[in-house]
Amino acid sequence: MGERVARLLGLPEFEQTTIRIGGYLHDIGKIAIADRILLKPGPLTDEEYTETQRHSVIGGAIVSTHEAMTGIAQIVRHHHERYDGTGYPDRLARDAVPLGARIISIADALSAMTTDRPYRAAIPIEPAWEEIVRNSGSQFDPAIVEVFGTMVEQELLPRASGMVAFSEGRPVDPVRTEVQAGRGAPKTPVAASVAPEARRTSGTRAPSGRRRHLTSGARTPAS
Ligand SMILES: [Fe+2]
Repeated sequence: MGERVARLLGLPEFEQTTIRIGGYLHDIGKIAIADRILLKPGPLTDEEYTETQRHSVIGGAIVSTHEAMTGIAQIVRHHHERYDGTGYPDRLARDAVPLGARIISIADALSAMTTDRPYRAAIPIEPAWEEIVRNSGSQFDPAIVEVFGTMVEQELLPRASGMVAFSEGRPVDPVRTEVQAGRGAPKTPVAASVAPEARRTSGTRAPSGRRRHLTSGARTPAS
């Protein structure tokens, strides 16, 4: 997904490849985070949330072991920065966030919302995309959201007609998703995915006083 957007942006082939590999490796730092946190079905404590945030720095360090990997390491380290500068680990803003990281952050959020997580069910591509657009200019670079929109309209939405989301490489039945959402997930699954992450990264607590999971906070095939 990130590589296709890089191509639409007209980036050189080397940068397209860097973004593709950065997409594969962006969460590699989770190898150092305990499964009891990554796979926890309920809300995270403040300590657990802080622990999960370490994955971007750890991943960046893992990938930066050779200078040829510099561009990929930047994507891995900065994929949780936000366009408004309230992300982590370095609170970079706007163009200071590496372009590849700005692209992968959108692909990651879209993938996280449209795949099952331990703490909620997948949602269809259409409301997931609406959530990305709602966070354009705050969490995401609006110029890149626009390019993503072209791909979503041309490729993902047509593909999703009848089969709306993907889980572990398989299409998710919209009826099943509804049932799952009613059984265990928040009543408004869209708002429970990206938007709370936006509040978390800006330091606002969830109503329970506990922080919720990262948008892409679980080790899943898609993240
Ligand atoms: Fe991540």
